[in-house]
Amino acid sequence: MLASAILTDAVADFAADVRAGLTKPGQKELPSKYLYDTLGSKLFEVISELPEYGLTRADERLLRAHAQEIVHRIAGDIVVCELGSGSGRKTRWILEALSGRRHHTVYFPIEISSSALDVCRRELADIESVGIVGLEREYLDGLLEVAAQRRNRQRIFVLFLGSTIGNFSHPADVNFLREIRRILDPGDALLLGTDLEKSIPDLIDAYDDALGITAAFNKNLLVRINRELDADFELDRFEHVARFNPETRGVEMHLRSTQSQTVTICKAEFSVRFQKGETIWTENSHKYSLPEVSQLVETSGFACTAQWIDQEWPFAESLLTAL
Ligand code: AVJ
Repeated sequence: MLASAILTDAVADFAADVRAGLTKPGQKELPSKYLYDTLGSKLFEVISELPEYGLTRADERLLRAHAQEIVHRIAGDIVVCELGSGSGRKTRWILEALSGRRHHTVYFPIEISSSALDVCRRELADIESVGIVGLEREYLDGLLEVAAQRRNRQRIFVLFLGSTIGNFSHPADVNFLREIRRILDPGDALLLGTDLEKSIPDLIDAYDDALGITAAFNKNLLVRINRELDADFELDRFEHVARFNPETRGVEMHLRSTQSQTVTICKAEFSVRFQKGETIWTENSHKYSLPEVSQLVETSGFACTAQWIDQEWPFAESLLTAL
């Protein structure tokens, strides 16, 4: 049966994106932002605790060790704005370093997942002289709103942590930073986390862990489509695949159809055929070299004023100023 009821905006956007991605000629794909529903956000929290996945811990180590220095490098009255707040655990170090300041600090987590926003608000509520204003928006929409509200002489400090930038395949990463830059004023700051190149076996283990949590995180996208778009994906007919693409130097997640089959997505009003072995590409996680980070920063209108690198799990935190 095909849905005839009027869909809410969010469901209609999801339906349109799923339809576009699965009916595309050649490689089928689904946007990785849809991995983060309530369950997906929780599964990612578990991933960040896995022994194989060092990325989040490296990010946290750097922020804990250098938060004071990071905020000291940005003078004056600051509005903090985070693109994709996640649990808020990493952000604590930055906000605590700011809480000693003369000015009351407002922190705007921008997040499309309302459940992640709730967790973040709860996690950070106790920090003194920091007010939290969650924005349930797409990143750039949220940032535009913060920029529109800023008072004279306030600086915006954008946090874009966890190497989420790596999910924007090149050149979308440059374009995205340019969009951020256009919304900012000269002198505003951006703290950018980027996961760095490491051995291919380590990377594959990080995205295909022994407990199967990453596989569950990936397959949850099909669970979400079944639930929200009234589809009939059979979960045991798809398997999780993590592979390193040497041309783009990113780890890709795919869902591979283990047999030829047809799936119907009622609320998006289409059916799709899968050949045996055919995959849906669900995420790209680019691994940067340091020269590549410099180039990304420079071509998007920023200057890097300081950089910190984790030795245990190669990961860089770069503090940028809008030119
Ligand atoms: C949250 C975007 C940093 O790309 O490593 C973890 C998401 N995907 N395991 C990443 C993810 C599979 C993750 N980021």
